[in-house]
Amino acid sequence: MVSLNLDTPELAATYDVVGHRQFSHGKLLIQDLGVRYGQRVLDVGAGTGLLAAYVASIVGPQGKVVAIDPLPLRVELAGKKASEVEAHVGRAEDLSAYPASSFDVVYLNSVIHWIADKPKVLSEAWRVLKPGGKLGFTTAAKEKPHDVERLRVLALEQTGLSERAQVSSGIPHRVSADEVRALFAAGGFQAKQVLIRTIVDYQQSAEDVHRASLSSSFGNSHLAGLSSDERERVHRVFDAELEKRRDAQGIRLERYLIFAVAEKPVVS
Ligand SMILES: C[S@@+](CC[C@H](N)C(=O)[O-])C[C@H]1O[C@@H](n2cnc3c(N)ncnc32)[C@H](O)[C@@H]1O
Repeated sequence: MVSLNLDTPELAATYDVVGHRQFSHGKLLIQDLGVRYGQRVLDVGAGTGLLAAYVASIVGPQGKVVAIDPLPLRVELAGKKASEVEAHVGRAEDLSAYPASSFDVVYLNSVIHWIADKPKVLSEAWRVLKPGGKLGFTTAAKEKPHDVERLRVLALEQTGLSERAQVSSGIPHRVSADEVRALFAAGGFQAKQVLIRTIVDYQQSAEDVHRASLSSSFGNSHLAGLSSDERERVHRVFDAELEKRRDAQGIRLERYLIFAVAEKPVVS
C-alpha cells in the first residue's frame, strides 16, 4: 500500500534537488505533447514543481499552469518556485475542483505508477480536458523493470527476505505499454503515442541512489517491514551490485519509461 503520510521536509527538499532526473525526461514528455504558448495546462502529481515552472515558461502569460500534488510540503515548494504556477494540494483521482473542458493539456510525469485506480485518473482527466485536448504521462514500464528495481529484487532474493519486504519491486502499480493502450481505449481516448524510452542515469554513490529513491517515493520504502539488521543485509548486497556498474562517469543505471500521449476526440 502506498502511503501519502510519510513525507518530511527533508525528503521534500531532497526531491527538489534529485528530481532533475524526472525533470529531464519530463521535458521530453512536454515535447511529445506539443505544449505551446497560450495553453492551459494541468500538472497532476507535480511534486516540487520543477517541470510545472518549465511549462509555465512555454505557455507564457497568456496561458496557465495549475500544479497539484497530494503532499503539502511539496506543493509549498512548488508554489515558491514560480509565481506563474498555481499550486494546490490535490489528487489525480479527484479533479472536481476544476470545471469540465477547462484544460488543453493534462499530464502526469512519473506519477501514475503510484496510483491503483487508473481508470478513475483517466476519467477525471477526460472530464477536465477540452475536446481535442491531450493527456500525457510517463511511467515505469511493467515489462522492463529499471536496473535499480532488478537489483533490489536480486538483493532481497539473495538475503532470503523477498517474502517479507512490502513492495519488493519498489514501484507498486506499474503498467505495460499494452495496458496503457487498453486504458486509453476504455477511457474513450485516441492513442497518439505509446512508446518505451531507455533513460541512462549516473549516480556517484550507493548513498545517492538511496536518497534519490526514498525522496522520489516520498518515504515509501521497498524495505518496509524489515528490521534494521535485515535492511543492512539487503543494502550490503544491493550496494555491491551497484558498484559492479561503475564506469568512468559513475554508477550507470538504466530506466525504461513509457511515454504515452492520447487525445480526447473532438466528437466522442
Ligand atoms: C516521482 S514524484 C514525480 C513528481 C513530478 N511529477 C516530477 O516530475 O518531478 C511522484 C509524485 O506523485 C505524487 N502522487 C502520488 N500519488 C498521487 C495521487 N494519487 N495523485 C496525484 N499525485 C500523486 C507524489 O506526491 C509525488 O509528488
